[in-house]
Amino acid sequence: MTEDLSRKQKRQFKKDGFIVIKNAVPAALIDRAKEKILASLPDNERRLLAPAALATHPDIISLFYGSCLDALLHNLMGPFPPLISCQVAMTPPFDQLGGEPGTHVDGSWSGDIPDSADEIDLKLGRPKHAVAYFGENDEKRGTNDGQLWIDPERRISTGSYTALVGICLSDQSIPGNGQFAVLKGLHEEVEAAFIKQRDTGSIIGPEGTGWPRMKISRRGAPYMNGLPDAIRARKADLAAANKNIDGWPWPELTPVLMEPGDAVLALHSCPHAPTPNLGPNPRINVYFRVRRLRQGNPHEGSRRVGHGVSDHPDRGYFGQFLEYPDSYDPWQTSIDKLCNHWDEWDGMQAITKKRSQTN
Ligand SMILES: [Fe+2]
Repeated sequence: MTEDLSRKQKRQFKKDGFIVIKNAVPAALIDRAKEKILASLPDNERRLLAPAALATHPDIISLFYGSCLDALLHNLMGPFPPLISCQVAMTPPFDQLGGEPGTHVDGSWSGDIPDSADEIDLKLGRPKHAVAYFGENDEKRGTNDGQLWIDPERRISTGSYTALVGICLSDQSIPGNGQFAVLKGLHEEVEAAFIKQRDTGSIIGPEGTGWPRMKISRRGAPYMNGLPDAIRARKADLAAANKNIDGWPWPELTPVLMEPGDAVLALHSCPHAPTPNLGPNPRINVYFRVRRLRQGNPHEGSRRVGHGVSDHPDRGYFGQFLEYPDSYDPWQTSIDKLCNHWDEWDGMQAITKKRSQTN
């Protein structure tokens, strides 16, 4: 079992923004969890969030704690609060997910949006009649779904964490079987987009500089825009990389190929997407979102935060604003980390510092 990455693996991780850990989880734990998941979810029902009783069940949480991933993350990042929940993600066979994968950076609001392009203010990337979608006074309170705004002052519109850990429970070694897929290597450009927003005094995230919250597709339909424009512009460059993969119609995305027991580790800033499962078997992954311990934060380890499943751990899992002492500014801390995303990776410092010395 891998309790630390080799130097070569760390260099790869730095370059790509993700890395696959082979045989991270013992087969017995995978089998037990898979049985539990299949018994708990109705046949062919796709659910992004499984029932809480399943997502917090010891048989599921032990996929992390019974594997090398706990020690690996401690070595790579440093301390982090206990993981109490996760995302159980099942994609049924022959599922199209409505067509194109929705590539995104985690943390944005994802509620209902207008059906018609006429209803979108393109300059702001917001509905013209925002109250109908965002609720009353969203500019002050962030009432809608807990994630429209991360802070009460509307400085930040994206949640964030340190590492996404995806554990594979079904064979995903052949492209087209519902792989987790990434815009390989664009994590640094996502960091650059956040830096640009910070340096222009903008909102950090959607509705900030270079990131309309909603856009209109070439077919004229509004869609939630999960990526800064600078990243969307790079998708065409990436398309050459994977254009010859059989059964893989999304060449800008790199499919993360895994077998049961493998795990993928990705930075929060690594743009990613679930992809349609064109194969005959359910695609099952379990995702943990891990944030390195933040000194001075009184809510570290509180169950209200939902550490492990939440992509917005500066607020309560259900969107509640938490009280913070004057000595700790959770919003500025998150902006600082979004704009310096290797800062929370203690075990990567020798590799990432080298980058700045040689540039
Ligand atoms: Fe995601």
